[in-house]
Amino acid sequence: MYVCVCRGVTDSHIRREVEAGARTMGELNRRLGVASQCGKCGKCARSVLKEALAEESAPLLSAGLLCPA
Ligand code: FES
Repeated sequence: MYVCVCRGVTDSHIRREVEAGARTMGELNRRLGVASQCGKCGKCARSVLKEALAEESAPLLSAGLLCPA
């Protein structure tokens, strides 16, 4: 789905950047341009970022390799 219409960024683009090491909205902004024009996508982009980070850390948490705090 499109998250940022102004820059043509989808949730897949955001997930790909998280896999490549992005951890913050600032990084997504620099890498993809998310929320750099009208800004209406900020809330949704933050939600996709949070979800992607959680998905990425889930296997480490379940294996006890990451502190849950
Ligand atoms: S929809 Fe993302 S900056 Fe406008």
